[in-house]
Amino acid sequence: MKSTLEDTLLAAIRTIPDYPKPGILFRDITTLLGNARAFRRAVDELVHPYAGQKVDKIAGIEARGFILGGAVAHQLSAGFVPIRKKGKLPHETVRVAYSLEYGLDEMEMHKDGVAPGEKVILIDDLIATGGTAEAAVKLLRQIGADIIAACFVIDLPDLGGRAKLEALGVPVHVLIDFE
Ligand code: PRP
Ligand code: ADE
Repeated sequence: MKSTLEDTLLAAIRTIPDYPKPGILFRDITTLLGNARAFRRAVDELVHPYAGQKVDKIAGIEARGFILGGAVAHQLSAGFVPIRKKGKLPHETVRVAYSLEYGLDEMEMHKDGVAPGEKVILIDDLIATGGTAEAAVKLLRQIGADIIAACFVIDLPDLGGRAKLEALGVPVHVLIDFE
């Protein structure tokens, strides 16, 4: 019998207590990425709603959004644009500060990474407070991107990130929730 998507993904994701700080249950997708069947299933499900639609770019958030985003971009025949922690990109950037479940950081992307009006899907492995994804949405909108959706393998609904993005008018597509 074919396992459900939820069973496959839940079984493939490892939980590490107290990482990187006491009290955090870290949802580790490296075990999912290392599992060929689960990785394919996750990418297929991320791609599914957008197959056949015009998508110009996938914007992937460092670091795990690069791995998933690259695979999704290939499947949708879209380009890939990286959203990175500050100081990593060589050309002219736009930058924004943001807060995390466990700290503060800044992220940036190349000003010419997306042309005004291009249709973009934002990808990351997980949405928690939504601070990271909200910052990515701000960057993309600053350079005129048309954000079709933001997609994540995991949502931590108790932390409110999904609602935060939806309040900004960004449709959210998530594969599994961890309460
Ligand atoms: C994780 C995850 C998301 C972000 C989600 O990345 O991959 O990018 O946290 O949290 P938020 O919704 O509360 O903003 P992390 O900051 O651990 O960076 P890394 O991928 O570079 O390890
Ligand atoms: N990013 C923010 N919170 C996280 C968590 N609990 N597990 C993995 N990545 C995260």
